[in-house]
Amino acid sequence: MKYNLNSTKDVTSSDLLVLPVFGEDKELKFTSAWDKSLKEFFNGLTLAKNFKASAGETVFFNSIEGQNFVALGLGSKKGFSIENLRREMAKLATGSKMKTKSLTLSLESLKIKGLDSTINAIVEGMELATYAFDEHLSKKAECTLEVVNLDTKEKAASVKKLQKVIDETLLVTQSIAIARDFVNSPPNVLNSETYAKAVKKDVSKINGVSVKINGKKELKKMGAGLFLSVNAGSAFEPQMVHLTYTPKKVTKKTKHVALVGKGLTFDTGGYSLKPGGSMVNMKFDMAGSATMFAAFRAAALLELPVKVTCVLGMTDNAVNEHATMPDSIVTGRSGTTVEILNTDAEGRLVLADCLDYTCDLKPDAIIDAATLTGACLVAVGSETAAVLGNDDKLIGSLLKSAKNTSEYMWQLPIIPEFHEDMKSNIADLKNIGGSRFGGTAKAAAFLENFIKDDISWAHLDIAGIGDSQGHLPYCPKKGASGLVIRTLVDYLRNA
Ligand code: BES
Ligand code: ZN
Ligand code: ZN
Repeated sequence: MKYNLNSTKDVTSSDLLVLPVFGEDKELKFTSAWDKSLKEFFNGLTLAKNFKASAGETVFFNSIEGQNFVALGLGSKKGFSIENLRREMAKLATGSKMKTKSLTLSLESLKIKGLDSTINAIVEGMELATYAFDEHLSKKAECTLEVVNLDTKEKAASVKKLQKVIDETLLVTQSIAIARDFVNSPPNVLNSETYAKAVKKDVSKINGVSVKINGKKELKKMGAGLFLSVNAGSAFEPQMVHLTYTPKKVTKKTKHVALVGKGLTFDTGGYSLKPGGSMVNMKFDMAGSATMFAAFRAAALLELPVKVTCVLGMTDNAVNEHATMPDSIVTGRSGTTVEILNTDAEGRLVLADCLDYTCDLKPDAIIDAATLTGACLVAVGSETAAVLGNDDKLIGSLLKSAKNTSEYMWQLPIIPEFHEDMKSNIADLKNIGGSRFGGTAKAAAFLENFIKDDISWAHLDIAGIGDSQGHLPYCPKKGASGLVIRTLVDYLRNA
């Protein structure tokens, strides 16, 4: 979609003028987009009789001169938030009555907090909502809306700043679209090798970014036995993709943040095979890596003054005659031995070696993201991400960024008892706990064993929110959500 600020080009007679209205106790509160004559005209329409301006309610109408209008209901003005705006803009852009190629919005009529955050929410809502995964459809998805004209009374200098907000927001939403494409890609197209290649290709033109890919040979050399044990039954090479973004100016104060992601291009469960119903959709088991990649990519394109490392552990979890058998004891890169009691608890094994590798880079903080446990959906529901870790300050910053971007995130505890439960009597650790309770936190307790030198670490379990977040108008009903990326970009902005 194209966004024009104060531009008359692309505005045609078919352009739709959006007229927001709040609805308060059955009373209509017309915003500044309406002038007196328009209000009178609207009030005289039979169409408008039952209009209550509740959120998402629309009345499309024409003036005598033939101009197209839509009265856009926003619900109560009290408590109308940036997130409300994001959602209403998403609904507007994808609504079934949206038949025009271009529309015009008066920024002042929608202003909440500052114009910056207003524009940001408009662009995010519309861009995220009009995403479609149509690569494999013979008939491509059609989005009628192509141009959004944003009208403002601001002076030229402020308009320039607002244009920057649009451009920066688009860098983030485009990165989210790339992450969604990766997650939605089927496993016969996206495997560890094609995935790593696609990531490498994508960042090749971004300033300040370097790429290193550790394949099977390198992983063997570094003794990443846990990662390799997951890949043992695979037809494809494991790929540990290591990306680095170095900002133009680096001083002693420059923060170094590492993002680590679980990139299971498909999770069959291995010998501990998933039942058919639970296996469907396990192409999305690489959502953690796609999330981290998108946040990394956005940070580099935004030229944020923070050094960012991104380590993505890519493989599938498949079965062949070489696949790891339950009861195996495997040694990780750190020398820690793990009794593998369930080959379906594979994400933590891949992450363990990736985290150990990342610690050697001595970042100030490590954040990992993974579709790690089904238990996460039981603990916090399928609409919330769980955050755990060893540093409440880091967790607090992530929770704050989640709040800033209106994403749902909740902290779970890692208590000593969970650590105790992850110990094996014949190896240093086992890869599953002794009961089905607290699965998300026990997986995190397992991961904590691979964090060296007291490095600040936070783990995001996105098993619930990775896909199918249709309750949000800016997420597809089915398929990758792209959630948490905005939280991470906000965190990196403030790092
Ligand atoms: N990828 C799954 C986690 C998952 C399950 C995500 C369902 C989304 C929906 C992970 O590898 C897994 O299978 N975990 C097991 C762990 C168990 C064996 C301790 C699980 O959650 O059942
Ligand atoms: Zn699994
Ligand atoms: Zn998995």
